[in-house]
Amino acid sequence: MDDNAERLKKPYTFLMLKLPGLIDPHVHVREPGQTHKEDWDTATQAALAGGVTTILAMPNTKPPIFDEATLELALSAAKAKARCDYGQYIGAGPDNPDVAASLAPKAAGLKMYLDSTFGELRLDDMTLWTPHFQKFPKSAPMVMHSESRTMAAAILFSAIYDHPIHIAHVSLKEEILLIKAAKEKGIKVTCEVCPHHLFLTSSLRPSPSGRGVGGEGRTEVRPRLATKEDVDSLWINLDAIDCFATDHAPHTLAEKDGENPPPGFPGLETLLPLLLTAVDDGRLTIDDVVQRLSTNPKRIFHLPDQPETWVEVDENAVYEIKAADQFTRCGWTPFEGWKVRGKVRKVVLRGKTAFEDGKVLAKPGSGRNVR
Ligand code: NCD
Ligand code: ZN
Repeated sequence: MDDNAERLKKPYTFLMLKLPGLIDPHVHVREPGQTHKEDWDTATQAALAGGVTTILAMPNTKPPIFDEATLELALSAAKAKARCDYGQYIGAGPDNPDVAASLAPKAAGLKMYLDSTFGELRLDDMTLWTPHFQKFPKSAPMVMHSESRTMAAAILFSAIYDHPIHIAHVSLKEEILLIKAAKEKGIKVTCEVCPHHLFLTSSLRPSPSGRGVGGEGRTEVRPRLATKEDVDSLWINLDAIDCFATDHAPHTLAEKDGENPPPGFPGLETLLPLLLTAVDDGRLTIDDVVQRLSTNPKRIFHLPDQPETWVEVDENAVYEIKAADQFTRCGWTPFEGWKVRGKVRKVVLRGKTAFEDGKVLAKPGSGRNVR
């Protein structure tokens, strides 16, 4: 991003690009339980502002989503407040393999937390993984938070139980190479990579005047930001990356700059501008972006068509990312001050203008459950 000055010098000619409604399979909506960070209203406004018309919501809420009652809690809030389409994951717990399997038709999929994360959902003991692999329907998506060696174990489970898995937020060279090798062996594994793991490295240092960071807590995210070699390997092995997903994980600035900063970055509103800027830099094609934000996630997560739905982007609009312009409630972004090229102008969802020129027009409750 050090060619920012160059980017601003490029001549401006208005160029409208039409994209399909984007799909983000990894969003932390925070409702129920932590609506001071985000809720179904603000998360789906942020989604629309980012060109995203479908979000799949993670289950590490308060309480976590792990049975019928908690699923209903999340879905009733979504039904009343969501402004774009949505699905809700169920979390894999030590005691819920049967219940989770029975709720599969109503859920976006099963999320298994096998490594360090934010919230209570975590399956430390490998013996707890087995019943989920045995019982959760093979046709329903299973998403793994599994890093490094845990990822290797999850891929082995996928092969043994012949259950497709989707690996969340891949960040390391060893991980993308392993996924590539597993795919070559015919193992049914797909994966996603987050923009922050494509554009930021662990050398990101807090500097109040610098680009995008304040206190040390603002660099905290799981998986952690990685080395330049890791980041480069993700770009080199782009063909092994099925989806781009934000892992939109809003925490307030006070929390990020406080005593025990929770891990997580917001990402819904910076996803497309960052990727389109990479297109402008010749690192990606528009087709690469559409594959990973629409075609592939639609297939992997078995999502319905959204007729008469599209996103209009002004490809040549150059501007600075500012938290102050965002709809997320969390009030910050790790990309503050970045110069990007490509702005969402308009989003049409099922024939209705849902977002236009900086304003969310879709009403709360207009979003539909994809299941
Ligand atoms: C996520 C969160 O805050 O819910 N944080 C993060 O750093 N990605 C949890 C997670 O996805 O593991
Ligand atoms: Zn997450």
